[in-house]
Amino acid sequence: METIVLVIGANGQLGSVLTESLKQKFGSSNVIASDLRPREGYEGSFEIIDATDINRIEEVVVRYNVTQIYHLAAILSAKGEETPLRTWDINMKTLFNVLEVSRQHNIDRVFFPSSIAVFGEGAPLEHTPNNACLDPATVYGISKAAGENWAQYYFLRYGLDVRSIRYPGVIGYQSLPGGGTTDYAVDIYHKAVLGEEFSCFLEEDATLPMIFMQDAIRATLELMDAPKEDINIRTSYNIAGISFSPAEVAAEIRTLYPNFKIKYDPDFRQEIAARWPKSIDDSAASKDWGWKPEFDLESITNTMIQKLKEKYKTGSKNQATLML
Ligand code: SER
Repeated sequence: METIVLVIGANGQLGSVLTESLKQKFGSSNVIASDLRPREGYEGSFEIIDATDINRIEEVVVRYNVTQIYHLAAILSAKGEETPLRTWDINMKTLFNVLEVSRQHNIDRVFFPSSIAVFGEGAPLEHTPNNACLDPATVYGISKAAGENWAQYYFLRYGLDVRSIRYPGVIGYQSLPGGGTTDYAVDIYHKAVLGEEFSCFLEEDATLPMIFMQDAIRATLELMDAPKEDINIRTSYNIAGISFSPAEVAAEIRTLYPNFKIKYDPDFRQEIAARWPKSIDDSAASKDWGWKPEFDLESITNTMIQKLKEKYKTGSKNQATLML
């Protein structure tokens, strides 16, 4: 059977990069990107989809004979706190719509991203195991924890092959995150390359799990490629990349930019970060489908700085233009 992929939330930080990787893997004409707004300059099939509208998702699935859906649309942890009930509504409604359309149209595989935000005070902070207690304190985390259970429900009840990863903070040069607690770890590199001081909204020792974009995309594709019988966890898999604090990434940046300056001005996002794990036990992902990260803080920093230097040299200083 030919694989036809629909990406919902294709303009986002992960979606914009994942869409390109899926095009390379399955062929450009077999990938349909979708989001609330068109993407300027996008090459390939693009559909406007508001994922709160189930009929619209269904229309696109039927028109293109879609066989796989990657549902990446969500309101993230920090932004979500501005309007908790709306965040819950949007994050859950879009997931239910994707699960229902997938069930009704016999979609072969569905990908649903979860997050380290599912953990809270009840989980160990270090090497947090896959099956740790989930008591999230953000509405985003609550929606992801609920979403994981619904994913498992659709698998157990209807046999829908939904797969999921709990992403750490994702760091990439290709796109900008929006509304997350881990966003500082992307922004800090832009400021370094632009020669500006960085004002950090987390405390200097706020260690969080992070992952380089290339590793995050590879994890997603490897999970989606794995034989069905190897997927023993139908809620969501922990995956680890590396862990670092703002002070540690600043020190690494100083090996390339010795005059780089950082100041700390923690806001409400520090409270969110304080309840999240500092490091992740990803042994289940490694055992079930061979997960292994490749990038450490040094290689992430070298790559981010080299790529952002190239981008800023050729492009405008406006960060928005860095979106793919
Ligand atoms: N990066 C996300 C956030 O900070 C976590 O999934 O909200």
